[in-house]
Amino acid sequence: MKILDDIEDLPASPATSYAALLEKIEILRSTLRWSSRMERPEIEKLLRQASVLRDDVMQLSHRERFVQAAVAEPQRLPGSARERREALLARSFIFEGTFGDNPKLLEALEIAEKAAPTDLPVLVDGESGTGKELMAKVIHANGSRADRPYISVNCGAIPDNLLESELFGHRKGAFTGASNDRKGKFESAHTGTIFLDEIGELPLAGQVKLLRVLEAHEIQRVGSDEPIAVDTRIVAATNRNLRRMSEEGRFREDLFYRLSVIHLTLPPLRERRDEIALLLAYFGDEAAATLKRQPVKMTLRLREFLRTYDYPGNIRELRNLVYRIVCLAPETADIEHLPVDIRPGNSASMVSGMVASAVSLSDAKRTASDEAERAFLERGLHEVGGTVAELARRFEMNRSHVQMLLKKHGLHSKDFRNHAASAAQKEKGS
Ligand SMILES: Nc1ncnc2c1ncn2[C@@H]1O[C@H](COP(=O)(O)OP(=O)(O)OP(=O)(O)O)[C@@H](O)[C@H]1O
Ligand SMILES: [Mg+2]
Repeated sequence: MKILDDIEDLPASPATSYAALLEKIEILRSTLRWSSRMERPEIEKLLRQASVLRDDVMQLSHRERFVQAAVAEPQRLPGSARERREALLARSFIFEGTFGDNPKLLEALEIAEKAAPTDLPVLVDGESGTGKELMAKVIHANGSRADRPYISVNCGAIPDNLLESELFGHRKGAFTGASNDRKGKFESAHTGTIFLDEIGELPLAGQVKLLRVLEAHEIQRVGSDEPIAVDTRIVAATNRNLRRMSEEGRFREDLFYRLSVIHLTLPPLRERRDEIALLLAYFGDEAAATLKRQPVKMTLRLREFLRTYDYPGNIRELRNLVYRIVCLAPETADIEHLPVDIRPGNSASMVSGMVASAVSLSDAKRTASDEAERAFLERGLHEVGGTVAELARRFEMNRSHVQMLLKKHGLHSKDFRNHAASAAQKEKGS
């Protein structure tokens, strides 16, 4: 069927546009319209094409969010950072969902952009959750091998005795259990990219073998003498300090230099706090869309906590926190929606932390008074199960004044009604 072959040939172009997507969708539609009967292989082909389309749409959506955020917060970005990010966008750089405008991150993206079209090995390091794997995908997606295989190997997760066979494959009968010939990861990544994750965990014996592949561009399956040429671009990642490990004799120095022709270090989130607000908004929208609900508002003290928290798990931790909050909170999220182990001890210590960060005495007074007012309203709403009229009666205040105060603090009485209802439900159930 000719049409099917045509669409298969359409590249997943880096400059995906709505027009290109519509064209692909039209081709798919006419394929389906004119087909009276379809065999399984053709169905599989259509499914693959639909997956490509889905990836394109996601790429476009990531890109749009990135542009929207850039437009929404123009005053926050120093001129040069904004210009650099816009320049990357204008050059159709594929971000693969990498978000942020911190100068160190932009620098890493710019290096990735230059390194991507080459076949030079790239070493990405940084703490856990800083986006190393994402960066490997960015490098692959922006390079000439983008439509070739991308194979990921976690070097820390393979038992020593299986490492060689996992990476290079084996011949039938090479060892007990080798019942068939099997390709290794390097062969699977031929003409594409291999991502060697947690390279710092690779045992010394494995390091020697890897070095040989880097030098000779060929592998040998376990149990075979026959060399097989492999053309594979290598991106490696680690949260260890490989330079120090090589000085201490725990990582081969020659391998370190071979792998780190381009060396990228991703900064921890606590060193790019200027990105936190943007990341919260980005993941907040993403989580709301994924969980099919309205975006969640955050109280001042929750935002303050998220802005100053240290994030030992970096962006992964921030992302998980936002998903948790968006899943658990009613319309407005607060400290209580954080996991218990990171929740600040009590709201008084929180207020004193905020007061400490105030810039003037009047600022400090206002912050403390605002927080006290808010806590008072929240407690009241809890007690009356979210009935504003009842709250006004208790406080001996005019109802419209209470409404005004609730609005000021972004509190919604119906959130407390839900709470009251679910608490009653729980009580009934137990
Ligand atoms: N700059 C960023 N923008 C958007 N999402 C990001 C960014 N950096 C990381 N992430 C997201 O954070 C999560 C963790 O990223 P990733 O897996 O790439 O980290 P890692 O450095 O490989 O972590 P580990 O060392 O634990 O393997 C992923 O969901 C990733 O998509
Ligand atoms: Mg990783």
